[in-house]
Amino acid sequence: MKEKLESYVDPKKLPAHVVIIMDGNGRWAKKKNLDRISGHREGMKSVRAVVKGAKDLGIKHITLYAFSAQNWSRPKGEVNALMELLRQYLLKEGDKLSENDVRLNAIGRLHELPEDVHKVLTQTMEKTRHCRDLTLTLALSYGGREEIVDAVKKIASNGKISPNKINQSNFSDYLYTKDLPEPDLMIRTSGEMRLSNFMLWQLAYTEIYVTKTLWPNFRKRHLVKAILNYQKRERRFGLTGEQVRARDVI
Ligand code: IPE
Ligand code: IPE
Ligand code: MG
Repeated sequence: MKEKLESYVDPKKLPAHVVIIMDGNGRWAKKKNLDRISGHREGMKSVRAVVKGAKDLGIKHITLYAFSAQNWSRPKGEVNALMELLRQYLLKEGDKLSENDVRLNAIGRLHELPEDVHKVLTQTMEKTRHCRDLTLTLALSYGGREEIVDAVKKIASNGKISPNKINQSNFSDYLYTKDLPEPDLMIRTSGEMRLSNFMLWQLAYTEIYVTKTLWPNFRKRHLVKAILNYQKRERRFGLTGEQVRARDVI
C-alpha cells in the first residue's frame, strides 16, 4: 500500500524545495503522559525519516524549522534539552549525511547558539560541503522578521546599493536563503494555521499544506501525501487560470 501511494508521485513535478514547520512535539508527549522533552526526542526520529524520504523521492532541497528566535523564551530546561538533542543529532548524523550525499546548511542567527552546538554545526556543514544529492537546511534561532531586519542592516551598512537600485532580486541576495531556491511547498504539522515567523519573505507564492499529524508521528508517507496534494494544485502567481494553462501548453 505504501509503495502504491508513492507511485502516483510525478517525478517531473516534484517541488524543488520543501520547507516544514515541525510542530506538535509537546502535544504528542502530553497525549502519552510524557514530558515535552520526550516529544522532542521522538521528533528526531521523524527528522531522520523525512530527510531519508525526501532524498529517496528525489527532492533536492528540504528546510526544517527546528528552533525559532522566539523559542528562546521557553523554559530554560526545554531550551537546553532542545540544544542538546540538536548537538547529538549533528554528532551522530554527520557521517551518515556525508555518506548519503546530503549537504547540511543552516539559516538563522546562528551566532546565538551555544558554542558547542555552533561548533559541531559548523563542522558538519564543512564535512558535507561537497554533497550534492539533497541540501538539508536547518532553521535555527530563526525568525522571518529578524531575517528581513538583518538584510536591511547589511544593505544599509555596506552602502553598495543606492536606495533606488534596491529591488526584489538584489534584496533576496541579502537574506539567509540567498543560495536556496524559492520554497514550492510548505508543510506544517499539528494542524496550526499560522506561519509563526517562518520565511515571511520567501513564502509569498509557496503552496501551503497543513496536516493534523503531530510531528513525532510524521513519516515519509505523510510527505508523499503532501506532495501528491501539491501536484494537484494550479499555481497561478497572480495570473488567471486560463493564462496559466495557455502558458503550460507552450
Ligand atoms: C515543535 O513542537 C518543536 C519546537 C517548536 C522546537 P512544540 O514544542 O512546539 O510542540 P507543541 O506545539 O507544544 O505541541
Ligand atoms: C514554530 O512552532 C517554531 C518551530 C517549529 C521551530 P511554535 O510551536 O514555536 O509556534 P507557535 O508558538 O505555536 O506559533
Ligand atoms: Mg508548537
